Amino acid sequence: MKIVVIGGSGLIGSKLVNKLREHGHEVIAASPSSGVNTLTGEGLAEALKGASVVVDVTNSPSWEDAAVLKFFETSTRNLLAYEAAAGVGHHVALSVVGTERLLASGFFRAKMAQENLIKGSSIPYSIVRATQFFEFVKGIADFSTDGNTVRLPSVLIQPMAADDVASAVSRIAMGSPVNDTVEVGGPEKFRLDELVRRGLAARKDLREVVADPHAGYYGVELSEKTLVPDDDARLGETRFEDWLSRSASQIQPTKPLTTAVAAVSNRASGAQ
Ligand SMILES: NC(=O)c1ccc[n+]([C@@H]2O[C@H](COP(=O)([O-])OP(=O)(O)OC[C@H]3O[C@@H](n4cnc5c(N)ncnc54)[C@H](OP(=O)(O)O)[C@@H]3O)[C@@H](O)[C@H]2O)c1
Repeated sequence: MKIVVIGGSGLIGSKLVNKLREHGHEVIAASPSSGVNTLTGEGLAEALKGASVVVDVTNSPSWEDAAVLKFFETSTRNLLAYEAAAGVGHHVALSVVGTERLLASGFFRAKMAQENLIKGSSIPYSIVRATQFFEFVKGIADFSTDGNTVRLPSVLIQPMAADDVASAVSRIAMGSPVNDTVEVGGPEKFRLDELVRRGLAARKDLREVVADPHAGYYGVELSEKTLVPDDDARLGETRFEDWLSRSASQIQPTKPLTTAVAAVSNRASGAQ
């Protein structure tokens, strides 16, 4: 099959492209860096010619409320229109577990809009909702940092390795459209504050993580199970501790705090 991965240069996209190629498919890694832009339509018709499946693993460069909504709405509308014209038979998109419970955040309103456009289109689809990636734990800490303290509620979270996300998406992309949403998660549940504490310790990051029931998650008040998938979610195999020890050689020690905080403050509110 010819499979086009939109966002094929990203964290999940690059892993996904490799996995699909290992199965012998013709895979196009499409993104602005290779001349394919879902916001302008540039390069889309050519990339989609003869494609059976399109997988959307893009993310918005800006997480500011209006910008992220505009990104996912425009990008998804364009993509679905070009897919219909090219006769694509399966649209696969990556979304986030609990999106409908996180709508106080502009980022998740944008993901919800993306999902609704897909459900309303004529293209057979599969939506894969994943939990937070292990690779994203430091991002959660950065967003919740005040001075030298990270404040997070002690709610449940069931994160997973990006590699397991890519495996799950590749299996779905190679199968028939489910015309539904499939959830994937990690093999273990953690308390959010404890997960971030462990993740930062592995980076020798000296920030203190404090459990605070009133601290938000990207501005959203969480309850015990907001971030947790349903019982029938497909689970990845990689455990956080194993991933941490395998990644230890690649994990960059955290930069001085002032740099990290400056980087965070440059990002307007958003998530993922
Ligand atoms: N982080 C998490 O824990 C988490 C959990 C569940 C689901 N997700 C979802 O997973 C998805 C992928 O995340 P990721 O971390 O792999 O993303 P990422 O590494 O930030 O990659 C984003 C990709 O989007 C591409 N892109 C940006 N603008 C584009 C445009 N106008 N047209 C086409 N492609 C464009 C980028 O291309 P260039 O490199 O060429 O700019 C890049 O390939 C997101 O939708 C996110 O919501 C994330």
